[in-house]
Amino acid sequence: MQPRHNPQRVVSGMRPTGRLHIGHLSVLENWVKLQEKYRCFFFVANWHALTTAFEETGLLYDNTREMVLDWLSVGIDPDISTIFIQSEVKEHAELYLLLSMITPLGWLERCPTYKDQLLQLGSQGKDISTHGFLGYPVLMAADILIYRTDLVPVGEDQLPHLEFAREIARRFNHIYNKEIFLEPQAFLAEVALLPGVDGRKMSKSYNNDIAISASSEEVLSKVKMMVTDPARIRKTDPGHPEVCVVYTYQKLYNPGEYEQISQDCRQGRIGCVACKKDLAEKLDAYLTPFREKRQILEAKPNEVREILAEGAQKARTEAAAMLVQIREAMQV
Ligand code: TRP
Ligand code: SF4
Repeated sequence: MQPRHNPQRVVSGMRPTGRLHIGHLSVLENWVKLQEKYRCFFFVANWHALTTAFEETGLLYDNTREMVLDWLSVGIDPDISTIFIQSEVKEHAELYLLLSMITPLGWLERCPTYKDQLLQLGSQGKDISTHGFLGYPVLMAADILIYRTDLVPVGEDQLPHLEFAREIARRFNHIYNKEIFLEPQAFLAEVALLPGVDGRKMSKSYNNDIAISASSEEVLSKVKMMVTDPARIRKTDPGHPEVCVVYTYQKLYNPGEYEQISQDCRQGRIGCVACKKDLAEKLDAYLTPFREKRQILEAKPNEVREILAEGAQKARTEAAAMLVQIREAMQV
């Protein structure tokens, strides 16, 4: 049995979707906390983006850069975390190939995310019955297992993939009779569900999101768009903060005053215009340090490129050492 790494290892990836919105902040702030305690590998899953969008790759470079700028601006620290692009560490692809050999097709076809997405995208007229899409969990397992990862911070939607990674690790160790892989654990952090300004799920495609990098003006105009209690017409009408998007945000970004606001709203002592103005100020103050960090990074044209190149180098060293053992176990 190989020893565990000390400190323990954390791996997580995100598909390059461009500038992130404040709904992503709880995930990123969790990463920032994890990097203090664990050896962290955070990567841009650009190959995973290809599994569903292989025809729309025009924005991939830009989206990668913008997303990494967000990571860095909220405090993912390249001096302590390894930050890289998946496609720049080819070892992930080699392990993906090797794992594909021992992956029973049935495991992939039964994967709930596979069936759901195939139907969902199919209904939008998109055919993704490709080898690559079916193999999505194998690639994700390779991303994780190649660093002998202990913990994987993921959203609930990714749990079936993590379970797949654990099963394939066990299968490999069993077939080749060696304890090469660790079974990674899911790390389910508490995720604050923030609605979009219109009350629906926050998403760039609904244009109801607030970017982490939003300017003060954008923050104010988005907060002004937020839906409030529709029963309130005059300031003196008693309000119902529990149905108000502004209030959901007050709870998160105005922890010292939200209880008072709730009372004032119910008793018709505060108007929605003033309540929004107050929230916009609090949210703006929260985002200001991120915006400033981003500006510093953007002013150095090669900075992100260099961080990613260095990260890929560090990741490759780890991944290559692991592959030596994997190949040896398989005798290839
Ligand atoms: N599938 C993940 C998602 O869409 C992204 C991802 C790819 C990932 N490889 C990973 C997450 C490895 C954690 C570990 O969110
Ligand atoms: Fe929402 Fe504030 Fe208006 Fe109450 S006062 S309905 S909490 S915006």
